[in-house]
Amino acid sequence: MEDTKRPSWSSYISFIIAAIGSAVGLGNIWRFPYVTGKYGGAVFLLTYLLIIIFICAIPLCLELALGKFFKKDTITCYEKISPKLKWFGQLNLITAILIPAFYFVVGGWIINYIWIFLTNNIPSDFSVYFSELNSSPYQPIILTFLFLFIVAIFPYRGVNKGIEKANNFMMPTLAVALILLAIVAISLPGAKEGLEFMFKPDFSKFSEELILTALGQALFTLSIGMGAMVTYGSYLNKDVNIKKSAYTLIFFDTLVSILAGVMIFPVVFTYGIEPTAGASLAFISLPQIFLNMPFSIPCAILFFLLLFFAAATSGISLMETSTACFIDNFKISRKKAVVILTLIIGILSIPSALSFGALENFKIFGKTIFDSLDFVTSTILLPFNTLIICIICGWFASEITKEAFGEGKFAGLLKFLLRYILPLVFAYALIVGL
Ligand code: PFF
Repeated sequence: MEDTKRPSWSSYISFIIAAIGSAVGLGNIWRFPYVTGKYGGAVFLLTYLLIIIFICAIPLCLELALGKFFKKDTITCYEKISPKLKWFGQLNLITAILIPAFYFVVGGWIINYIWIFLTNNIPSDFSVYFSELNSSPYQPIILTFLFLFIVAIFPYRGVNKGIEKANNFMMPTLAVALILLAIVAISLPGAKEGLEFMFKPDFSKFSEELILTALGQALFTLSIGMGAMVTYGSYLNKDVNIKKSAYTLIFFDTLVSILAGVMIFPVVFTYGIEPTAGASLAFISLPQIFLNMPFSIPCAILFFLLLFFAAATSGISLMETSTACFIDNFKISRKKAVVILTLIIGILSIPSALSFGALENFKIFGKTIFDSLDFVTSTILLPFNTLIICIICGWFASEITKEAFGEGKFAGLLKFLLRYILPLVFAYALIVGL
């Protein structure tokens, strides 16, 4: 039935869980704790909270409202505001296709690590292991494809039978794994130092860079600027309160980010490694530490399962965004759309999967293909798309702002911020980013 009729969430809770699934991803687990530590702990956290509540909540409400109002894919939603905006919907689609091309490579590594810990095939030096894994001309590609196929199954099966089921299983499991690991972490001797690193305010670190980092982090973590929330919003029923949903989402997303810090930093400080972000932390330093920890193997498996569920539920929302665009614009079936997209994303991800090995020396403006894709999407496309959404909705689509904010004093404040402050903020972030 879902091929012909527009799907809708089977319950409000299913929607909230799926939207949290989209938001909670690799950005929360390894990037948020690190940037919080690097930019002065509590000072960063406070700035981030203000930004997410008063700035990024606004485009989040707008994207959800846009989908809910028109009940269409991203391209059609913008086209309905004005046929002249079709290009902007298409740019959102391009962003939604480019992000998986590097994000899914990390998903592949995660699968590999789950496998080695499950089968007890554990290397003695993870630094050597990780570079060997990536220098293979085919292994990173096979792993990326494996992650892509697993993710694609769920949009292929549809919103209710696929996406909801996946999120309803993966998100609660992720929560339990995160809480268990955080408990193990705070019982370690370095817990106090680790938590201080993350939460103790260092006001001297307050800077323009801190604000821009907090803004970029908030956009990426809320999956704003590439149509994911428009798509998930388009499956909502008429009676849903968008503002309330957006703030619920922000609450849980931030909670997961903070818990991730509580899980990671005590470990980092107990075993005396450098608090860094990205590949080297999750795939080299932490696995090495796990070997010395109490309950080492179960902890390692739990950690990589947690990363897998975080990445997979975000990946599902990315694929669903482009799937919905293909179904509505090319008038093809859901299954056909997913198969075509799997092929496109698969092909696009090959160069970034090889970025750490065979194509290591192929650089664009000094960056590998993997880093270039990350830069173009996170630093350019997400703020640019968000800027345009704010201008379109703030100045030319009052029906969407009404749907997004409702009425009352707080709605008035959000509308004022949307029209006069946010365009300046995002334009500034874009210029500095470039
Ligand atoms: N929000 C995800 C994260 O924090 O890792 C990343 C992401 C997922 C961005 C889905 C965009 C998106 F549409």
